[in-house]
Amino acid sequence: MHQEGTFAFGVVFGATAMKGRALVTGGAGFIGSHVADHYLEAGYDVTIVDDLSSGREENIPRAAEFVHADIGSSEVRRLLERTRFDVLNHHAAQMDVRVSVEDPSFDARVNILGLLNLLEGARAGGTKRVVFASSGGVVYGESDDLPHVEHARKLPVSPYGVSKLTSEYYLAAYTQLYGMQCVALRYANVYGPRQNPHGEAGVVAIFCSRINRGQQLTVFGDGGQTRDYVFVRDVARANMLATKWWTDNPATIDATAFNIGTATETSVNELAQALIGAVGAAVSIMHAPERAGELRRSAVAIERAGRDLDWKPETALGEGLKQTYEWIRENGA
Ligand SMILES: NC(=O)c1ccc[n+]([C@@H]2O[C@H](COP(=O)([O-])OP(=O)(O)OC[C@H]3O[C@@H](n4cnc5c(N)ncnc54)[C@H](O)[C@@H]3O)[C@@H](O)[C@H]2O)c1
Repeated sequence: MHQEGTFAFGVVFGATAMKGRALVTGGAGFIGSHVADHYLEAGYDVTIVDDLSSGREENIPRAAEFVHADIGSSEVRRLLERTRFDVLNHHAAQMDVRVSVEDPSFDARVNILGLLNLLEGARAGGTKRVVFASSGGVVYGESDDLPHVEHARKLPVSPYGVSKLTSEYYLAAYTQLYGMQCVALRYANVYGPRQNPHGEAGVVAIFCSRINRGQQLTVFGDGGQTRDYVFVRDVARANMLATKWWTDNPATIDATAFNIGTATETSVNELAQALIGAVGAAVSIMHAPERAGELRRSAVAIERAGRDLDWKPETALGEGLKQTYEWIRENGA
């Protein structure tokens, strides 16, 4: 396994050396926009594809080219066919677990057929490298054997989880068939600036938004359910490292997957207390009935990303929560 230095096919435009062309799907969304920022900072030419179904135009970096389109469209397929992107970074998704349960066909259309449209375009256009946003929160399912290592048993309990795992198998097949280098990053619970606090959002964004409006925090059940919270800029950095990583032995889906988290379980009660402490808020916490179908515990092991990507999370929870709250306060969310 190796880390490449820079792309051998870097292009020179005027006086500026470009590291490569990156297509970021979902780049108007929370994580994808930070990933796009990182590619731009590293000298890539960035194109964003997003249908703005949950993403926002304000999130799109000014230096990126924006294509307002569905990942499943012929327009996006043609874009990939005629542009030799050096990397396809795929973050666009239907990612609402409840929607996937209510309408699994819609979930599969966006997450599976959308991916295939992108992969077929990439294959025809000569794009060799794919970085895919998978989910450590859903592919492993419920188990007490925490934190989950990459080769742990996979048992997704929602169509969304099945679509993420299925996507990883398609990536493995394209790697075998066409010699592409596909990497799946299995994220834990990502939080940070630009996360949408509305609808089925992450608990951190919801809590920050409620504190900002002076409202009490609602904890479902006893609040002992745990998650592994990882800061979005650490996640974006992992994407850059994964873009340069390659293996000549992509034998299984786990050989080309990295968990990206902190390996630490934090309960919802602890999270609420940490947030209140970090921002010095004076809000109370109320408990509401437990929500059906929620995992009790979740965390991912990160030794593999440390060893092969030289990645580890650098943002402590308190610091990340403070930055998230500041963003929500400044943006009135
Ligand atoms: N947020 C997390 O904690 C987390 C955890 C695990 C995995 N992920 C994965 O990371 C990725 C990004 O998640 P996020 O939290 O930034 O969500 P997000 O909703 O902010 O971003 C998703 C983006 O994809 C766009 N999109 C959706 N359907 C599209 C389509 N058919 N065509 C084009 N664009 C489309 C949306 O408009 C949005 O901008 C998703 O693939 C998600 O499954 C997120």
